[in-house]
Amino acid sequence: MRGSRVSWQAIGIFDSGVGGLTVLREIIRALPQEDTIYFGDTARVPYGSKSPDTVIRYAQEIASFLIKRDIKLLVVACNTASAVALPTLRKLLSIPVVGVIEPGAKRAVDVTHSGVVGVIGTSGTIRSSAYSRAIKRLNPSISVLARPCPLFVPLAEEGWTENEVTNITAHLYLDELRDAGVDTLVLGCTHYPLLKKAIAAVMGPEVKLVDSAEETARTVATILQEKKMLRPPAEQGNHHYYVTDIPAGFIRVGNRFLGGKLGDVYQVTLDDCRVTMEKS
Ligand code: DGL
Repeated sequence: MRGSRVSWQAIGIFDSGVGGLTVLREIIRALPQEDTIYFGDTARVPYGSKSPDTVIRYAQEIASFLIKRDIKLLVVACNTASAVALPTLRKLLSIPVVGVIEPGAKRAVDVTHSGVVGVIGTSGTIRSSAYSRAIKRLNPSISVLARPCPLFVPLAEEGWTENEVTNITAHLYLDELRDAGVDTLVLGCTHYPLLKKAIAAVMGPEVKLVDSAEETARTVATILQEKKMLRPPAEQGNHHYYVTDIPAGFIRVGNRFLGGKLGDVYQVTLDDCRVTMEKS
């Protein structure tokens, strides 16, 4: 049986750059039948050190670009953008908008036994307190200890996932969280799943690492299923990539983040998206 017209539309996913490919990877794994359109804002990365107003403006422009490509659901793969821009995007768009914060927070609440949860992310994500608020909304008795780990982003992009510099950096960032007794640590940044080994080595085997990318893919699958917007399972999805800077660096680093080979990557500008968005 063929699905409705809507079910054949693609899932739109965006990030400040290459990091969101860790989220795309999980979405492709969970829903191999779906077409996806990935947008990496490589000309303006990083978002993690920028002000909320700037990140909200960027997110609106990208959402406008993706809406024009007729997507059925928007995934905000960037933790920083999810932390500050989600309410604005949800107000402006009439399609489902999924961020990475709520799925990660829900998983952390489900798995913690001690009730002490750690959250790591970019400076922008941690400053926003978005994870702490999302966790407290689900269970007010949980204590949340949050720590920005900005250097993890360039280390992951450099491919330094298991060397001495990464191990020292992980200790400097994480020793305090481990000693404070967190039993669950939310990897609240697109890049951190690549550093899981180094992070786990510092935190120890007792501490559960919550990968927001995996949880987000599960949420996307649930929403599309509930809304009967999934493509038939026998289909094979196609994947398109748009970036705002020349594609070379994105492709080189991206293959590693995706854990496979990227298809064609197109460079675009957002000039015609710099308008107030209409409700789609
Ligand atoms: N994608 C960003 C995030 O998950 C990390 C990189 C950046 O700072 O733009 O927060």
